[in-house]
Amino acid sequence: MTGRKKPEEFRSFRWFGVRDLRSFGHRSRLYQMGYDNAEIAGKPVIAIINTWSDINPCHAHLRTRAEEVKRGVWQAGGFPIELPAMSLAETYVKPTTMLYRNFLAMEVEELIRSHPVDGVVLLAGCDKTTPATIMGAIQVDLPTIFVPAGPMLRGNYRGQALGSGSDVWKYWAEKEAGRITEHEWGVMERGIARSFGTCMTMGTASTMTALADTLGLSLPGASGIPAADAGHSRIAALSGARIVGMVFEDLKPSDILTVKAFENALTVHMAMAGSTNAMIHLIAMARRCGVDLTLDDFDRMSEKVPVLCNIRPTGEFLMEDFYYAGGLPALWKQLKPLLHLEERNVVGSIGEAIREVEIHLPDVIRPLDNPVAARGGTAILKGNLAPQGCVMKPAAADPALLKHRGPALVFDDYETMMEAVNDEDLDVTADTVLILRNAGPVGGPGMPEWGMLPIPKKLLKQGVRDMVRISDARMSGTSYGACILHVAPEAYVGGPLAAVRDGDIIALDVACRTLTLEVASAEIERRLSEWRPPERDYSRGFLKMHAEHIQQAPEGCDFTFLQSPHKLPEPEIH
Ligand code: FES
Ligand code: MG
Repeated sequence: MTGRKKPEEFRSFRWFGVRDLRSFGHRSRLYQMGYDNAEIAGKPVIAIINTWSDINPCHAHLRTRAEEVKRGVWQAGGFPIELPAMSLAETYVKPTTMLYRNFLAMEVEELIRSHPVDGVVLLAGCDKTTPATIMGAIQVDLPTIFVPAGPMLRGNYRGQALGSGSDVWKYWAEKEAGRITEHEWGVMERGIARSFGTCMTMGTASTMTALADTLGLSLPGASGIPAADAGHSRIAALSGARIVGMVFEDLKPSDILTVKAFENALTVHMAMAGSTNAMIHLIAMARRCGVDLTLDDFDRMSEKVPVLCNIRPTGEFLMEDFYYAGGLPALWKQLKPLLHLEERNVVGSIGEAIREVEIHLPDVIRPLDNPVAARGGTAILKGNLAPQGCVMKPAAADPALLKHRGPALVFDDYETMMEAVNDEDLDVTADTVLILRNAGPVGGPGMPEWGMLPIPKKLLKQGVRDMVRISDARMSGTSYGACILHVAPEAYVGGPLAAVRDGDIIALDVACRTLTLEVASAEIERRLSEWRPPERDYSRGFLKMHAEHIQQAPEGCDFTFLQSPHKLPEPEIH
């Protein structure tokens, strides 16, 4: 094949192929590991970046998958090395994995850059691990393939399907309203997460892995395969085999991640009614590629693309059903007139990937003329309360709340809010607008997923299941309701959210895309001039660095010194 890379052009050749004092060390240490030089000579070295850990249930199978990737790499004539990276288990890492997304991105970048590596396989999937590993790999720009962890099996509760996150919030409200017993709650706890793999609703994990797949970084359709399906092992091995070919072809992320690829990702995001978190991640990923994606791009796309995926929390089904319906290629097929079909992926193009695809369950992946919602996967709102913008998911909210005026009830921290919502004498009605602030990128820190503020117990008992809620936090992609998130600038850095007082009237108009604090601007200014942020200890270590360099949500929450397509030089090998 013309243009095929020669072994002496491999990056790893500088470690293993040359004849000098250092390469003596590099080769002798291979022998120490039990390899013969013949096993590596002339072969591309493939790094398998593995975010497995003992406490990440979504990645529990990635140890085995890494071996399956290696099988593919060996078969195709490569030399695999597994490099462990931090795992970022969404459920366990506090206050939020978002605090560490950029940390993992830096780790991945430096792992690749510092080691004798020619190509990269990323094993990730639980929420932040997808954008983080990809952001790191973009920066080194070696041939890279993303192997998504895959969704777990559907949950089961007395024969009914249970969805990660979404059904927890739903049934918790019923429990708080006194309609579910402790025993039933215990049965649910044991039935909701039945296998390894990521959340099987359209949460951040399913959203981000589908976007990575649409961008072209996975074998087409890999993201929909359930983690426990034997097909998932096969896709791991095939990915291992494919990355070797990509090294010889020198097919890099910069060849794949074009402006049009990001437009495809936006289209798919809207059609899936994907997680609001994806807006932060996609902006961060795009800007690492030099593509200037903004919140307005999301809003423009939201007006154009209907919601086609009938998956919770917006719809009825789960990711296992999505796979049986035909998976991501089936969604691409439904979206055909709206996608750039010629955009290349790790093997070909989206157009090629959908050629033989059929839609098996058209109620799960709907056609354009029978959507779940005509538009409104996500909406960007602006106004004097959020001059740089904020986001919501209209399709997952009570339609009656999309135009609303009500008095604010403000909480400065999570604990006070929790105490208040459990107080059955709280002065609150269904019209109240609940506000949580100081939960943004700096104030949280890390923008915890607190944005689906709990409905006060008193209202739950009255049958209220949704109300307008505003915060500078994020919310889980599995959450739903009239929750307005990512208010920017955040309160902690002096955004206008800091000026709101109990009883101030707030007006929401989703059709007009506005969020207004009905207080005179001079009074807002006066209040802000008196306002001081609450105490936080950012005096040392990672938290200090984070607070000094983290950007606001509309910029992607990257570190200021990372958000650039600039590539660092190769390390000196002496
Ligand atoms: Fe890992 Fe949801 S907790 S994907
Ligand atoms: Mg999540």
